[in-house]
Amino acid sequence: MRASKFLKAAGVMFFLAVFACIYAGQANAGAEDGKKVFAGKKCGDCHQTEGTATEKTFADKLKKKGPDLWFAGSKFKKEWLAEWMQNPNPIRPLEYNSIEKTNPGNHPKLAKKESEDATEYLMTLKSKDVQEGVIQEGASNIQGKLAFEKKVSCFACHKYPKLGKPIGGLTGPSLADASKRLKGDWVYAYLKNPKVLIPVKRMPVYEGILNDGEMKGIAQYISTFK
Ligand code: HEC
Ligand code: HEC
Repeated sequence: MRASKFLKAAGVMFFLAVFACIYAGQANAGAEDGKKVFAGKKCGDCHQTEGTATEKTFADKLKKKGPDLWFAGSKFKKEWLAEWMQNPNPIRPLEYNSIEKTNPGNHPKLAKKESEDATEYLMTLKSKDVQEGVIQEGASNIQGKLAFEKKVSCFACHKYPKLGKPIGGLTGPSLADASKRLKGDWVYAYLKNPKVLIPVKRMPVYEGILNDGEMKGIAQYISTFK
């Protein structure tokens, strides 16, 4: 009796292991195909996919034609990425690296399968400086809300949802749907360690202005934006 139960359990485990391997293999094949899509469509002409950040001065930054993707797997939510690359609505109200021109909204589009494969690939690109599981997403955070709205007025440069409507400045990427797009752990790492992920930017550095609790609070607060 005992032996047969053991055999049954071992059998179930064997099948689970086989399925896990097949599944991992498929994701892997997707990532390989996605890397080819990325190369074939020349996405790398505008996006850096290998870390760490290369820009040291503003002139270096202005040479970049698109945001870095070498930490894409740490930054973006997978479902959002797969959807956005098929239907790339403007994220930054202004054209990349510009402070006056409107975003032309002409980002290259991918077909569904290409986008799913490119997503598998981009999700493998992670930064060791983004620790996972720190920010508990979706929970309200009053300390974060106060810091975001009152103490440092992040919304001077970022749109965010207020009473159901996106309001705020135009110089930074919109955060209006941040809960769908950004991982809370990335937002926290970006505030905490500003030199590592995007060292040159038109956004103030908040080291010494916001404490650790406020940075975590803000990341949690942003993770409720939808
Ligand atoms: C001509 C330059 C250019 C090319 C080519 C290009 N991109 Fe982009 N990409 C941009 C710019 C500029 C943005 C910012 C768009 C916005 O804010 O609305 C962007 C944004 C992105 C984002 C979101 C990143 C972020 O931080 O907001 C992803 C993901 C992305 N591109 C993937 C791709 C893929 C995949 C390809 C190839 C099919 C590609 N891009 C080709 C310029 C480019
Ligand atoms: C003076 C304008 C300004 C202020 C104030 C500002 N930001 Fe930013 N923020 C920017 C700009 C510009 C970028 C784009 C940086 C880049 O990629 O070069 C940015 C990027 C970001 C991003 C990344 C978004 C993405 O999709 O890539 C987050 C998150 C963010 N800011 C949060 C905040 C928070 C939280 C505050 C307040 C503590 C804040 N910002 C205050 C201008 C600002």
